[in-house]
Amino acid sequence: MIFSTATAVSHPNIAFIKYWGNTDDALRLPQNGSISMNLAELTTRTMVTFDSSLPRDIFDLNGVRQSGPSLERVSQHLNLIRGIRGFSVPAHILSESNFPVGAGLASSAAAFAALTVAAVRTAGMEMSEKDLSRLARRGSGSAARSIPPGYVEWLPGSSDIDSYAVSIAPPEHWPLTDCIAIVEDAHKKTGSSEGHLLARTSPLQSARVADAGRRIDLCRNAIQKKDFDLLSQLIELDSNLLHAVAFTSNPPITYWLPQTLVLMQAVKDWRRAGIPCAFTIDAGPNVHVICESSATSIVKERLGAIPGVSEVLTSGAGGGTVLI
Ligand code: DP6
Repeated sequence: MIFSTATAVSHPNIAFIKYWGNTDDALRLPQNGSISMNLAELTTRTMVTFDSSLPRDIFDLNGVRQSGPSLERVSQHLNLIRGIRGFSVPAHILSESNFPVGAGLASSAAAFAALTVAAVRTAGMEMSEKDLSRLARRGSGSAARSIPPGYVEWLPGSSDIDSYAVSIAPPEHWPLTDCIAIVEDAHKKTGSSEGHLLARTSPLQSARVADAGRRIDLCRNAIQKKDFDLLSQLIELDSNLLHAVAFTSNPPITYWLPQTLVLMQAVKDWRRAGIPCAFTIDAGPNVHVICESSATSIVKERLGAIPGVSEVLTSGAGGGTVLI
C-alpha cells in the first residue's frame, strides 16, 4: 500500500569558507563554521514514496538503480526520519540532477537536502527550516547549507541541537555567478566523507580551524557589504587551506589535476587585469570561478577557451530547498 509521496527540489551550494573535518563524524558536527552560496541553475529533484508493498528501499539516481554504499547511505538517512515518526515502511526514492554527480560539485548537498525535505513531508511531519537543516546535516554536512535560501552560514554548534545553517542574505542581495570549469567529470576517487576523516591527520588542520572564525566573520562582512576584493582574497585563501590540509593528510589526498593549477593561475591574472573573479575548489579537480554577474560572459568565454576544459556551467545565487 502506498502511504504517501512528496517531491522536493534543491540546489547544491559552493562554499566560500569550507567545511573540512568533524568533531563528531557520526553526527557530522563540523570543526569549523562555513559559508556558501546556493546555485540556482543546478538542481536535484527527489521524489520519496513510502510503500508497504516494497521488500526494501529502492533508490533510482538519474535513471540508474542504486545498490551498495550509495543505497545504504540513503536508507540510513531515511531510517533517521522513519525513527522520528516511528514507522519502518520501505521507500522508493527517485532522484534526478541536471549536473555531473561526484566531481566536486557538492552533489551530496542537494541530494540530502531534497531527500530530507521530501521524506519529512512524505512521513507526514512539519519541521522548521532549522530542524530540516539539522536533519539534512546528518546525511551530508554541506546539505545543511542547501536548506535555507541564498547566502548561507552553517553555525557549527557543539551538539546535534545547535549545528544548523541560516540564511545571511537572500539570493538577490548580490548577483554573483559561479562559473564552473569542468576538467574531469568522472566520479572522484576520494570522497569528501573520507577527506573529513583524514583531515585530523594533517598537522595543518589545527591552524586552519583556529583561524576559521576570523575568516567566517570577514566573509560574512564581505557578503553584507558586497566587497568583492575582500571576498576574492578570502575564498582563495580558504580553498588553499583546505587543499593544504588534504595534501598533508596521511595518506595524502591530491584533488587537483595539472589543469586545475592552470585555471587557478589564469583567474589570478584576469583579476589583476581588472576582471572581478576568484577561484575556489572543492573535493575534486574542477574550478569554481566566482565572479560579479557583469563579468559572467567574459569569464565563461575565457574558461571555455582553455585547453582541457570540457564544459563551463554557470549559476547565480539560488533559493533554498522547496517542496513542489
Ligand atoms: C569540500 O558535505 O560532501 O565541499 O558530510 O561527508 O557528506 P559529508 O561531506 P560533504 O563535504 C563538503 C566538503 C567541501 C567543502 C564544503 O562544501 O564546505
